[in-house]
Amino acid sequence: MINLPKISIIGAGNVGASAAYRALELNLANVVLLDIVEGLPQGKALDMTQMLSVSGSSSKIIGTNTYDDTKDSDIVIITSGLARKPGMSRDDLINTNTKILKEVTERVIEKSPNCIIIVVTNPLDAMTYVAYKSSNFPKERVIGMAGILDASRFKAFLSMELDIAISKIDTLVLGGHGDDMVPLKNYTSVSGVPIDQLVAPKRLEEIIQRTRDGGAEIVKLLKTGSAFYAPGVSAIEMAESILKNQRKLLPCCTYATGEYGIENQFIGLPVILSSKGVEKIIEIELTDIEKNELEVSATHVKDLCDFIDNSGLV
Ligand code: NAI
Ligand code: 2OP
Repeated sequence: MINLPKISIIGAGNVGASAAYRALELNLANVVLLDIVEGLPQGKALDMTQMLSVSGSSSKIIGTNTYDDTKDSDIVIITSGLARKPGMSRDDLINTNTKILKEVTERVIEKSPNCIIIVVTNPLDAMTYVAYKSSNFPKERVIGMAGILDASRFKAFLSMELDIAISKIDTLVLGGHGDDMVPLKNYTSVSGVPIDQLVAPKRLEEIIQRTRDGGAEIVKLLKTGSAFYAPGVSAIEMAESILKNQRKLLPCCTYATGEYGIENQFIGLPVILSSKGVEKIIEIELTDIEKNELEVSATHVKDLCDFIDNSGLV
């Protein structure tokens, strides 16, 4: 393999494979795709290898069932676990995915003690906590992916509504990755034009609700699983900001120690992602309603984490 950083992706399912594809497309890193199912990561890696001559990427990918191949990864993206089916909430996945996250994290850190972990598995904020607890890593090096996806859904719906280039839309979605996420109207704009000058209040509320339901809308359509293209790309945006020390301000699930009045728990907040991982949590002004919504969302995440602590699973 040529001298690129190394990303290992645990779980070669829909999100894992989409993330791998994106990392190769960007020529960002050499990729190791790992799954417990024999043949699955190998088959997908071979398929992607056969794509490289056309895509012009010099990154390499291997598929594997053994953690030896993940040794000395710079970044490990954890996507292993159950995905939602119609009628299931993200929280319904907690028992099975907690066991998977614990086992996977312990095996990952044995081989890559200096890596940065990006968690994707749901319920996202609680699973990021499981990875944090199981790894004993500093909080800067365990991060969850959700806010980028939720914000990009909000942007997609606004772009559809306004028939405006999505690349010119800016927004932030904070809080846990659940029905009580907190899309921030006041930080939503199109080329600097505040969104309330472009979309009527009632319509904006409908779009915000569609954003909150964005994952469920796709689950209902797919029937057999949940979204994966946008989640895969979102996880790689985080990896790219870290590996290239881009210092992007992105909404990510991070461990708050008093910021926004949230003590010692994971929650989606604006952070700077640098080569250290979470370099800094950025505190921005929120309205009283937004503060209250963030508190409700954080309480929900805390309940899940308390459930995990009391379950004896971790
Ligand atoms: P998937 O079912 O396509 O893939 C999951 C893969 O994990 C499977 O290939 C499975 O064999 C593998 N796996 C299970 N246990 C394992 C273990 N112990 N070690 C290694 N691999 C193992 O599911 P998909 O669609 O890729 O979703 C993965 C997870 O990501 C789900 O929990 C889903 O809810 C979550 N997700 C989170 C998002 C977010 O915004 N944070 C967005 C989309 C999905
Ligand atoms: C999503 O939001 C299921 O969390 C996943 O699509």
